[in-house]
Amino acid sequence: MKALPAAAVFGCLLIAPAARAQDGGTPFLGIAEVLQSPRCMNCHPAGEAPLQTDQSKPHKQNIKRIFSSLGGSCATCHQEAPLPEANTPPGAPHWSMPPEATPMVFQGKSPAQLCADLKDFSKNGNRSLTMLRDHVNTDALVLWAFNPGGTRTLPPVNHTTFIARFDAWIAQGAQCPTP
Ligand code: HEC
Ligand code: HEC
Repeated sequence: MKALPAAAVFGCLLIAPAARAQDGGTPFLGIAEVLQSPRCMNCHPAGEAPLQTDQSKPHKQNIKRIFSSLGGSCATCHQEAPLPEANTPPGAPHWSMPPEATPMVFQGKSPAQLCADLKDFSKNGNRSLTMLRDHVNTDALVLWAFNPGGTRTLPPVNHTTFIARFDAWIAQGAQCPTP
C-alpha cells in the first residue's frame, strides 16, 4: 500500500475505501457516486428531459421539464408508490423535476463541480448544509431512489450509509475535492 497523506488516513475511519483513495480525505466522492447513480441522476439531468432506465435515456412520450409548467402533472402516470408490474411508472409523493431556475444538474459534472453546486445558494434553492442534509434524509423522492420498486437497480450504498457520508462530509468542513 502506498503511503497516504495524514488527511486520507483520518478519512479511512469515516468513509468507504472507494471514496477514500482519490480525494485526499474529503468524503465527497462517496456522495458524488450516489448523486450520479441512475436513480438520482435520472431526475437531475443536464438537459430538459428526465431520464429513464440504467442507461439514462431521455423520457419516452416526449416528457420535458416544461410539461409541469404547462399544466401537465407527472402524477398522472407516477402514483404515490411504485406499481408492481414491470415497465410501469415508478411512484413517490410529489414526483417532479427540479425547477428550471435551479435544475441542480448531477449529470456530466465532476465531483468538484457537484460539490460546489451543492453549496451554492443560487443553485441549491437557498439551502444551508443543514437543510440539504434534511432534504437528503427525509425527501420522498430521495427515499424512493433507495427503494425504487420493480427490478430497478439501487444506488451504490444504502440510505443509512449515504447519510453517514453526508454527515462525515459536513463534519470535515464540507470540503470539495480538488478539480
Ligand atoms: C423523481 C425525481 C427525483 C429523484 C428520483 C431525485 N430527486 Fe433530487 N430533487 C428533485 C426535485 C423536484 C428537487 C427540488 C426540490 C425543491 O426544490 O424543493 C430535488 C432537489 C434535490 C436536492 C436539493 C438541491 C435543490 O436543487 O434544491 C438534492 C441535494 C437532491 N435533490 C438530491 C437527490 C438525491 C441524492 C437523489 C437520489 C438518492 C435524488 N435527489 C433523487 C427530484 C428528484
Ligand atoms: C404518460 C405517462 C408518464 C408521464 C406523464 C410521466 N412519466 Fe415518467 N415514466 C413513465 C413510465 C411508464 C416510466 C417507466 C419506464 C420503465 O421503467 O420502463 C417512467 C419513468 C420515469 C423516470 C425513471 C425513473 C428511474 O430512474 O427508473 C423518471 C425520472 C421519470 N419518469 C420522470 C418523470 C417526470 C419528472 C415527469 C413529469 C415532468 C414524468 N416522468 C411524467 C411514464 C410517465
